[in-house]
Amino acid sequence: MLEVNISGLNLKSPIILASGILGVSFSIMKKLMDAGLGAITTKSIGPRPRKGYKNPSIIEIFPGTFLNSVGLGNPGIENFTSEIKEIKTNNIPLIVSVFGDTNESYLDVALKAQEAGADAIEINISCPHAEVSSIGINKNLTFDLTKLLKEKLSIPLFVKLNPNVTDICEIALAAQEGGADGVVAINTIAAMKIDVNTMRPILSHGSGGLSGKAIHPIAVKKVYDLYKILKIPIIGCGGISNWEQAIEFFLAGATSLQIGTILYQGLDIIKMLNTGIRDYLTINNFKNISDIKGLSHEFETQKVPDF
Ligand SMILES: Cc1cc2nc3c(=O)[nH]c(=O)nc-3n(C[C@H](O)[C@H](O)[C@H](O)COP(=O)(O)O)c2cc1C
Repeated sequence: MLEVNISGLNLKSPIILASGILGVSFSIMKKLMDAGLGAITTKSIGPRPRKGYKNPSIIEIFPGTFLNSVGLGNPGIENFTSEIKEIKTNNIPLIVSVFGDTNESYLDVALKAQEAGADAIEINISCPHAEVSSIGINKNLTFDLTKLLKEKLSIPLFVKLNPNVTDICEIALAAQEGGADGVVAINTIAAMKIDVNTMRPILSHGSGGLSGKAIHPIAVKKVYDLYKILKIPIIGCGGISNWEQAIEFFLAGATSLQIGTILYQGLDIIKMLNTGIRDYLTINNFKNISDIKGLSHEFETQKVPDF
């Protein structure tokens, strides 16, 4: 009942770990899978080790809502391939999130991840506190990068979208045209917090990306808009903290979901989401998640009223 298929990737639960959450070690990933996740997305991995920004790099600004600028700190693909191999030896469905400094370096990292055993690649073109965000705000750059990777990869390719744009649909269509097998919507929302006593931004980098509870309605609207124009699957991501919010994403048009910030409360949320989704389907006489995908679009919304 909870199984989903995202462009050939079969998962036993629609709930996937979002990129950058809870590190990249095999032991943590195993615990997450045992708790009932359908797949893991790794932290974004680049061509070489990178430290990321100094602390403070993550703060809670409202209950359940965080601002971060970790700055894509990661071990680099050469050091990470052994981790991918260990995860795959244990049969954990694995999406490797990658980034690079040029299109060729994105490709190189993605090919190495594929060779090490990744089941799918997600490209990060959307982190609001790193250079990669410049790709995700430009439809031509998004198309070129997606096309290059799609031509060379044999596993599914997902594009993680940047919400910090005027028209997310235009970028998503460029990714689809480039051959993407799905999009992830959304990455964090560019934001800032200033300390009134020191009169400075609190994060060491100045600004960062907003995640958690506050961004959920924004992410639902992006998925709703994307569903109207895309043919490829949408993986909904942003602020999920209970099963109702997970269902909202499906009704808006998502095929699958990613969760991130809520995991700071512990792993019990995974079971609560799986149980809540299953019960909702049963009570409402649906057999599969695909039966409720996009159903909110059947409701005719009111057009702009006349004067
Ligand atoms: C501390 C932190 C680190 C993150 N690192 C990455 C990353 O490396 N790559 C990426 O694509 N997204 C990254 N994200 C964004 C998440 O994957 C996700 O898109 C976002 O947090 C919204 O989901 P949530 O509200 O469930 O956390 C990060 C988010 C947080 C909070």
